[in-house]
Formats: sequence, structure tokens, C-alpha cells
Amino acid sequence: MSSSHGARAPSSLWSRLAARFGRGAARAPAIDAGEADRVSRSWETLARHDPLWAIVSTPDKRGNRWEEDAFFDTGAVEVRHVFDLLARLGVAHERGAALDFGAGVGRLTQALALRFDRVDGVDISATMLAKARTLNRHGERVRYVQGEPDRLPLPSASYDFVLSRIVLQHLQAALQSMYLEEFMRVLKPGGIAVFQVVTGVRDASTQTVFQSPIDTGEGTVTIDMNLLPHPAVEAAVGAGGGRVLHRVTDLSAGETYESHVYVVAR
Ligand SMILES: C[S@@+](CC[C@H](N)C(=O)[O-])C[C@H]1O[C@@H](n2cnc3c(N)ncnc32)[C@H](O)[C@@H]1O
Repeated sequence: MSSSHGARAPSSLWSRLAARFGRGAARAPAIDAGEADRVSRSWETLARHDPLWAIVSTPDKRGNRWEEDAFFDTGAVEVRHVFDLLARLGVAHERGAALDFGAGVGRLTQALALRFDRVDGVDISATMLAKARTLNRHGERVRYVQGEPDRLPLPSASYDFVLSRIVLQHLQAALQSMYLEEFMRVLKPGGIAVFQVVTGVRDASTQTVFQSPIDTGEGTVTIDMNLLPHPAVEAAVGAGGGRVLHRVTDLSAGETYESHVYVVAR
């Protein structure tokens, strides 16, 4: 499957992007709204067929074989690692409101709810969100919110902490940049964002690498792996009024890719 970078977005999405970034902005025309829609539909299909495996794709868990407690335990471990890192950096943030972008069924959202007063999980897939609500153990302190393809449907300066893992890597680069700016917009001044992106490929020079297609009962979907090199991360964070405090290598995208977890302050 090919990615049509450089394609012009349909007028409604284009005009919203142009309003935000200006008509001359290089970033806006590079967003391919059709591609964004295809990716959203792919996640929705996967959510209907094998949601937990679509999120943590351990081979022996394919076919709805994840046991829910074990699945959520993986999220608890990852969130603990994030806060261990923040503690080492001296930027621990464990009160107030948190946002989990690309929440899926709430694997990380639920773990964040043990550390924050209130957590919102945003996802583009209504089916993921419906399952997340049935698996929520924290009542009204956790809210699952329908995402949008070209913005975060959330007020500015409303979160102390934003987390996103294994989400941005599947979005076209221009959308990754847009969402990074959105993370900065929704963070309160002094807030912290921690997000993972794929910054490179270990042994290839291409900018976009495609994963194998995944067969489902509704046909074959393809989830891409898209790069956002470090300068682009810096640029998007800076454009949103944030600054990169730290980045560490990360293996959540497998051995083929160079993946980093960024710690960013607003
Ligand atoms: C691999 S899963 C990761 C879920 C969760 N972050 C975790 O680690 O358990 C990727 C999730 O991102 C969601 N997603 C993809 N594009 C999105 C977008 N534009 N806005 C919000 N969520 C999106 C998908 O629906 C899917 O639930």
C-alpha cells in the first residue's frame, strides 16, 4: 500500500487546517485526508475482530487469545516505566488531569487512573472506545472520548499530563506533527507530555515502511509504520510552544525500527 504524501486534503479538512496553520504552511497540504480515513477504518475493523491483539500483537495471542488481566498488566508495567523515567528526570507529574491519546481499550488509561484524579482516553475507533468503557474500573474518573482525524476534540490548557504510546507511529508524518502540536495546546503550562514515535529505520533509507497486511473476517487491512525523524519532532513540539526535555530509545516498535520515547514540557 502506498502513502500519497503531497496529496491535497478535501476542502473541509483542508480549510480547517489552513485556518490553523495558514495557507502557506508546508505541513497542511501534506496531510492526506483519504489516507487518514483509511487508517481509521482499519483500526475500526481490527477493533471488531481482535482488539487486544491489534494493540499488543504477541503472535500467540492472535484470535482473541489475550486474557484481559494479563493484557492490562502489560499497560501497568509500561506506565510504571514512564513514571520511573520521570522520577529520574525530576519531573514527576501524578496529580490532576491526564490524557491518553490513542487509548485503544484503555490498557494505559486504566493504569494512569491509579496516578491521576481524572483521565481522558481519546481514540479514533468507536468500537475500541465501547470496549474500553466496558473494561473501565475507575467509574467517572475515566472518560473515553471519540477522536477526530484532524484535531483533538478537547479544550486548550486542560491537562497536566499527556501520554501516547504505539499510536503516532501508525499515522502519516504530517498528522503526527499536527497531533504533537495539539498535545502542546491541550497541556496546561508546566504540563508534561510523554510520547513514543518511530524516528528511523535501522537498515533502510525510506521514510515510510509498511507492515504486513492483516487478514480479518472483513477482508485485509494494512497498518503502516511511519517515521517522524527527530528534527520534525522538535519542530512540532516547538511550534506548539513546548520543549523537548529528554528522549530515550525504546523497543516497543520492534527491532527493525528506531523508536524513541520523548519527554516534553509545555
Ligand atoms: C496499537 S493501538 C495502542 C493503544 C494504546 N495506546 C495502548 O498502548 O494500549 C493504537 C490505537 O490508536 C488508535 N488511533 C489510530 N489513529 C488515531 C487517531 N487519529 N486519533 C486517535 N486514536 C487513533 C487506534 O484506534 C488504536 O486503538
